[in-house]
Amino acid sequence: MEKIFDSHSHYNNKAFDEDYDQLMQHLKDCGVGYVMNCGSSVAASRKAMEQSHNSDFMCFCAGIHPLDIEDDTCDADFDEIERLAADPLCRAIGEIGMDYHYDDAASPEKQKEVFIRQLDLAVKLDKPVIIHIREAMQDSLEILKKYEGRIRGVIHCFSGSAESAKILVKMGFYIGFTGVVTFKNARKALEAMKVVPFDRLLIETDCPYMAPEPYRGKRCDSSMLHQVAQKIADELGRTKEEVLCQTYENAARLFEID
Ligand code: NI
Repeated sequence: MEKIFDSHSHYNNKAFDEDYDQLMQHLKDCGVGYVMNCGSSVAASRKAMEQSHNSDFMCFCAGIHPLDIEDDTCDADFDEIERLAADPLCRAIGEIGMDYHYDDAASPEKQKEVFIRQLDLAVKLDKPVIIHIREAMQDSLEILKKYEGRIRGVIHCFSGSAESAKILVKMGFYIGFTGVVTFKNARKALEAMKVVPFDRLLIETDCPYMAPEPYRGKRCDSSMLHQVAQKIADELGRTKEEVLCQTYENAARLFEID
């Protein structure tokens, strides 16, 4: 049976604390072969690291998410991210990026500063990046253009246009799609998905959020990627097995997993 590679999850979220061990076994029983567990703050990155070391099918990334920037985010935090990134199971810097959706988030200037600082760290450590972009595509593209040829990674939970997807693919990025592709209003995401070359496509849950249909609103986990892969397969005129196989290979290549 084809294995699932969930390229973006948050098993460090407290939503999984209660039944974590049982859930991990359940994922394996459901064909999940590997999981990227994403940090979003220093504390969440550290927890993801600890969970990865207690697992045989998990790696993690370390980084500060744009919505986790605090007024007192400082040098010590970036030093700690760098220290966590030295762990052999840390396979990316992330998630990092830009999010202009919320009025009470850090200012665009502060977000840019934190994003750039972590892009520089990824270049320094020669690691891929996991990038979150929400309602901030133009500013993000402007920044990423300056790193063209020096940085690799994935734009996760892609919510931009097909046009933006083309630009990012041309820059060398992989593009990740979540359960959103199964929603009724998925047209935009599906149009973007169709311009991504098959060898640059990743699937992800972003769990515990973004459960695909028919589980929408429930706690999401990696086993639900069967529904996401089926939807993508239907749209691309391929089989679910082909989608699982190719996206596993793509994620394993990006994150250097055997
Ligand atoms: Ni995420």
